Amino acid sequence: MKRLTTLLAAMLSLTAMAEVNYQVVPLPQSIVLDKSGNKTQLVKGQAVAYPAGNALMKRNAEFAREFLGLQPKEAAKKETAPVVLTLGLQSQNPDAYKITVGKKGIEIQGASESGVFYGIQTLRKSVAGEAGDTLSLPWAVVTAEPRFQYRGTMLDCARHFFPIEYIKTHIDILALHGINKFHWHLTDDQGWRFEVKSLPELAQKGSRRPHTIIGSNVGLHETDNAIYDDTPEEGYYTQDQMREIVTYAAERYITVIPEIDLPGHMVAALSVYPELGCTGGPYEVLPYWGISPDVLCAGNPKTLEFIKTVLGELCDVFPSKLIHIGGDESPRDNWKVCPKCQAKMKELKLDKEEQLQSYITKEVEKFLSTKGRQPIGWDEILEGGISDNAVVMSWRGFNGGIEAARLHHHVIMAPTSHCYIDYYQLRNHDIQPHSIGGYVPLSKIYSLDPVPQELTPEESQYIMGAQCNLWTEYVLSPSHVQYMLLPRLAAMSEVQWMQPQDKNFEDFTRRLVPLENLYHQLGYKYCSAYE
Ligand code: ACM
Ligand code: ZN
Repeated sequence: MKRLTTLLAAMLSLTAMAEVNYQVVPLPQSIVLDKSGNKTQLVKGQAVAYPAGNALMKRNAEFAREFLGLQPKEAAKKETAPVVLTLGLQSQNPDAYKITVGKKGIEIQGASESGVFYGIQTLRKSVAGEAGDTLSLPWAVVTAEPRFQYRGTMLDCARHFFPIEYIKTHIDILALHGINKFHWHLTDDQGWRFEVKSLPELAQKGSRRPHTIIGSNVGLHETDNAIYDDTPEEGYYTQDQMREIVTYAAERYITVIPEIDLPGHMVAALSVYPELGCTGGPYEVLPYWGISPDVLCAGNPKTLEFIKTVLGELCDVFPSKLIHIGGDESPRDNWKVCPKCQAKMKELKLDKEEQLQSYITKEVEKFLSTKGRQPIGWDEILEGGISDNAVVMSWRGFNGGIEAARLHHHVIMAPTSHCYIDYYQLRNHDIQPHSIGGYVPLSKIYSLDPVPQELTPEESQYIMGAQCNLWTEYVLSPSHVQYMLLPRLAAMSEVQWMQPQDKNFEDFTRRLVPLENLYHQLGYKYCSAYE
């Protein structure tokens, strides 16, 4: 634990804050300071010009107002303001940016509008420790582009519900770190949070559990003796609210990827529609944790009808091409004894129950493709034969991702060993809130290379990126979410943006100090120690 050294470094950084050096998190690829040592003044209230007629660049200029105190100004010519936002940076990578600070002022140029946004974030982080209305910026050319096109973070809003206002703050936090995918886990055994207009009871009833187990349950068979709290957990997102989030995220160049977890993790839905389970129920929205044996019945034709209804509305709300369909932890024991499931296997000439899950995934993929969408599934979707176009999210280690890449399927790496930020971040449990267990310290996340050595260069092209996952069985409030997320998200951000040979943990922890000062200024809760 390095709390004292962190504090000391914070004090040193405050005394040295006069010197802007552009060494933010994630660290840009290249920072070339001008040898002259000259500086340009950035003054609050100065104009920031954006190209006429470009709504996204106008919005970027508004972010420059919010983050840097500048005054947006539509300009036909770029040299008409002290700070200019421009497009046209030559790069294959749409997220690339270049910041030039020199005699003519400050230019933030992007390969596309998203690149300009990331450049503004870098400038914001560069000056975050500076006080006063006039800031001195050394002449420099700063360039960066992210290593991966998919830079994600998952938040589980099913186990605990987080209000829409917090989801916006959460997206602000992702944007600060250059994340561009928000994987929104909306349904699980313990709560259904996605409004389906044609099935109104699903969210109304499925989003509520009257109480929740206190502490960890040891196993599903022991929950009868468990102690429960008296606090109902409830809440769901209306379609209007989710559309608002899609827009809010898009302005920050973040795509919202919703997840409906199927065919397992469905008990909240089964509690409303028990006929969709193999046993017929009754079921209750689960007030405890773990893997439930109760999953959707694969042999009941109503099951696919239900899935299509839900996913149809999901696609109406979320424009993302990628739609997460879960697929994890779906026990097949009920399928083995269910007459409907067994009849379905006979009809399809299947000899293993895992092929029944593949059958569902393939049907779902067909349905999504009629809407121009593509499924992502947890790595269990490889079992029983993967569908044609599914993206694999490798969570039980790297092997699922390796197998998928070799099958020429795209992969997102999120192994528990490096990416599960519901795990403890410090060895000493007494000084952290109760968690699900495990141990993923800051240094472990930082050490991740999402591209396994075993893959050939050709296979490596299938690794789209990485993400960290925050499950919330034991995460009870927005500030608790932030404590689990920060600063581990900062480490993930360097995994996502930097080339592996440029990463250096010691250097990262020095650059973390001003970022944590910014967390403090913004009122974000974070874990101030790290290992
Ligand atoms: C998972 O953590 N069950 C995907
Ligand atoms: Zn069945």
